[in-house]
Amino acid sequence: MTIVTFTVQDGGVSIFKFDHAKGRCGGTLARPASVECALSVLEMEVEQINKGKYMHYMQKEIHEQPESLTTTMRLIRGGACKSKTVLLRGLKDHLKTIRRSRRIVFVGCGTSYNAALASRPIVEELSGVPVTMEVASDLVDRQGPIYREDTAVFVSQSGETADTLQALDYALENGALCVGITNTVGSALARKTHCGVHIKAGCEIGVASTKASNWHFAYTSQIVVMAMLALAVGGDMISNETRREAIIDGLLDLPSKVKAVLKLDEEMKDLAELLISEQSLLVFGRGYNYATALEGALKVKEVALMHSEGILAGEMKHGPQPSNCFSCLSYLFHKHLFCCSKQQSVIQQLQARKGRLIVMCTKGDSASVSVGGSCRVIEVPHVEDCLQPVLNVIPLQLLAYHLTVLRGHNVAQTRNLAKSVTTQ
Ligand code: AGP
Repeated sequence: MTIVTFTVQDGGVSIFKFDHAKGRCGGTLARPASVECALSVLEMEVEQINKGKYMHYMQKEIHEQPESLTTTMRLIRGGACKSKTVLLRGLKDHLKTIRRSRRIVFVGCGTSYNAALASRPIVEELSGVPVTMEVASDLVDRQGPIYREDTAVFVSQSGETADTLQALDYALENGALCVGITNTVGSALARKTHCGVHIKAGCEIGVASTKASNWHFAYTSQIVVMAMLALAVGGDMISNETRREAIIDGLLDLPSKVKAVLKLDEEMKDLAELLISEQSLLVFGRGYNYATALEGALKVKEVALMHSEGILAGEMKHGPQPSNCFSCLSYLFHKHLFCCSKQQSVIQQLQARKGRLIVMCTKGDSASVSVGGSCRVIEVPHVEDCLQPVLNVIPLQLLAYHLTVLRGHNVAQTRNLAKSVTTQ
């Protein structure tokens, strides 16, 4: 066991590390050694640290996503968006290797895994490289195959999650190109990977904030960064130029569309009041919105402490017996009409059961998803399909927040959640 102490004296900070195993001296701990630490300056405004007009940091972070997304895009695109290209400085020397990889392996835990899952289709589509998904702990448990010809992309908000770091060591040992996507400059993940992108979604607030903080805007910023990764990797293909330009236009529109979704706050509070004493909430999604379903359910269970599950809608007929359902649906795209009509059939099956059904769809589509007003519908603006998960998760974040408050749980100090999961 290692104990670290901090002493603040005469305007200076001393850090001491007691190593329980090494430092024993006649039954007591030996005098600690002073530890040299690199100082990093937090580039934050006072308003970022204060809760401002918000009741809780979680609420503030949900509502500040238009700004965090703008920052993420401004800092990584280097103004190059005007010419409809994306420049990821941290990756530019490795793009050729990524394009030639046998496969891209996304690795992460929890919310970061979900963000990677949301980005998988667009990375596959634009790069033409197959993408596989790995939950970090499972990759390590299985010692799953990782090859020199692979690019392993590690996604982590904190950059310090033990499972993800262990998977990173494993991928490095196996010779893969390791790319990091993290919010934390100087984190272990940023230091150990060969190259990477910093999402710049905002600094951790500190004492009062919890594991639940930061992950709201990290999720949406991570998806944006991975869409940019897809654009950069697929950047030299003429065949997908129109698609790439549409995505870049969509990225630029995103902050204003997020603002529009945030106006659903009262509606989500009202919905939370309706669901307050329910036992369970099932969230169905398919295609790009499978990840939305997983992430929405994760938020509900970790902060509102209500049982919730994200389910791939295609699995509906293979077991789940829903009572309360929140069905995520996003459509309008020619390419995904197939997906859309399948989701509509899932909605019909859900309607046939006795449960309460809530459907999320793009603006203007409520009449077709809720024939004769048969279920409650939440409309979100339409954006390029691969960016739709950024908008669709926000009502679920708001729902989780309001459920937490209404159920009387502590939003600032969620039970059993540590800031970074640094143990396995
Ligand atoms: C906490 O709110 C997250 N839901 C949690 O799942 C987190 O994403 C996970 O522990 C991984 O953390 P990381 O992104 O810092 O690696």
